[in-house]
Amino acid sequence: MKSEPILRFEGIIKQFPGVVALKGVNFELREGEVHVLVGANGAGKSTLVKILAGVYQPDAGRIIFDGKPVTMKTPEQAFEMGISIVYQNFNLIGKMDIGQNIFLNREPLKGRLIRRIDWERIYSETQSVLERLHVNIDPKSKIDDLPVADLQMVEIAKALAVQSRILVLDEPTSSLSGQETDELFSRISQLKEEGVAILYISHRLEEIKRIGDRVTVFRDGEGMGSGNIEDMSVQKIIKMMLGRDIKKIYPWRARETGEEILSVNNLASSNAFSDISFSLRTGEILGISGLVGAKRTELAHAIFGALPIGSGQVRFKGRTVEFRSPKDAIHAGIGLLPEDKAKHGMFEILSVASNVTSAGLKLLKKGLGLDLNKEKGVVEEYKEKLNIMTPSTKTQIESLSGGNQQKVVLAKSLFTNSEVLIFDEPTKGIDVGAKEEIYNLMIELAGNGKGIIMISSELPEILGMSDRILVMKEGRVTAEMSREEANQEKLLEAAL
Ligand SMILES: Nc1ncnc2c1ncn2[C@@H]1O[C@H](COP(=O)(O)OP(=O)(O)OP(=O)(O)O)[C@@H](O)[C@H]1O
Ligand SMILES: [Mg+2]
Repeated sequence: MKSEPILRFEGIIKQFPGVVALKGVNFELREGEVHVLVGANGAGKSTLVKILAGVYQPDAGRIIFDGKPVTMKTPEQAFEMGISIVYQNFNLIGKMDIGQNIFLNREPLKGRLIRRIDWERIYSETQSVLERLHVNIDPKSKIDDLPVADLQMVEIAKALAVQSRILVLDEPTSSLSGQETDELFSRISQLKEEGVAILYISHRLEEIKRIGDRVTVFRDGEGMGSGNIEDMSVQKIIKMMLGRDIKKIYPWRARETGEEILSVNNLASSNAFSDISFSLRTGEILGISGLVGAKRTELAHAIFGALPIGSGQVRFKGRTVEFRSPKDAIHAGIGLLPEDKAKHGMFEILSVASNVTSAGLKLLKKGLGLDLNKEKGVVEEYKEKLNIMTPSTKTQIESLSGGNQQKVVLAKSLFTNSEVLIFDEPTKGIDVGAKEEIYNLMIELAGNGKGIIMISSELPEILGMSDRILVMKEGRVTAEMSREEANQEKLLEAAL
């Protein structure tokens, strides 16, 4: 491994209304290294990336690139200097197809007299970039029609489609399956061999040891230290991130479960899943395991009235129900924390407070209007409980860090007073400290008699939190087991 610093941040300060996101950060990236950057939600990781990308300008400090001070004025300039970025919140244009997105603003031309865009080349090169990542999607698919996992791979393909000197990946694996993650990691290793400097941000702490050479920890906008991976234990990293230890991350304990509250019989939805049957009791946490793409999200959407049901029934509190829309489901007492929190879960331009209460307005009714004092109390309560980092509850949700946006969406799904809660990948993109808080909350909810369905691709989370586990594969249930029977091997075997 070469060890030239290709990039250095010196004393970077960045302030936003009400928060100092970076408080004089120093950071160094070397050629041929994978440098992992970790820190709790809101610690300033993505802000540093956006400063490098020319999206934000720092208030103070310098960026040294190849030994010379530079100012990154625009994303185009950063791109031309050889900096490729996979953003945490996808940066793709929904109405365009994959090829158009990958070659956006750098479309190849053909023809001598009349220069025209060379579409053939766009699609054949897009095809080969996707193939190199073993992604099997048509380059002409429209972005809006793709599931989240595919979007993440397209975003990655876009960054890898150009020769870069610095590659930044901000939470690239949060929606990827194990296999896709392996593909990405092997590409990263190749690029590293070629001398590319890689900045890698992740909340999946188990990835640090697998992929990283060095690690830097941020806390509240400050660098807490850097070191070689061999010299840092995960425990030590967590302590640097949070300022405290986490001993037992899964607070599961045995609980009494009650009557059946929800059941699904031979449920099918065209092209998605078929023949799904299971039941859920009050106070029970039912985990649904499986690989990304097993159609678990589609199942959740069908129960929630967001996807048409082909055949079969959903029974809720002893009665067959047919929800025509999510509004009906919420009204009846079913809540969903969506997987794609940015797309289905939040109103970007509204405040934190309005987002939290948007699904539960009927709980705030007072006469003809809303009880604003109660709203304030409720929002403050969730802010406290979930440790949502925001300058105020009036702040637009869009300006929160990725993980804190997710906590707001979680609060929204909790504030509907639902009796059944479906959590679809509840801790994706969430830091370890906040994960612990979310797990505590789930146990509390189950303890109060709520029925919980937890869809998760993280095996330790499924094993750590579920009372009972279903495994899905390609739209079918392939196994059901109790907490005691379950282990990683059995879950994988049923999922593959
Ligand atoms: N455009 C913005 N306007 C106002 N505040 C912002 C903006 N972008 C970021 N912030 C604030 O800056 C702080 C750092 O946010 P940042 O997105 O860098 O965190 P992060 O470390 O990437 O967190 P996560 O792990 O949740 O992605 C947060 O308090 C966030 O609310
Ligand atoms: Mg971030």
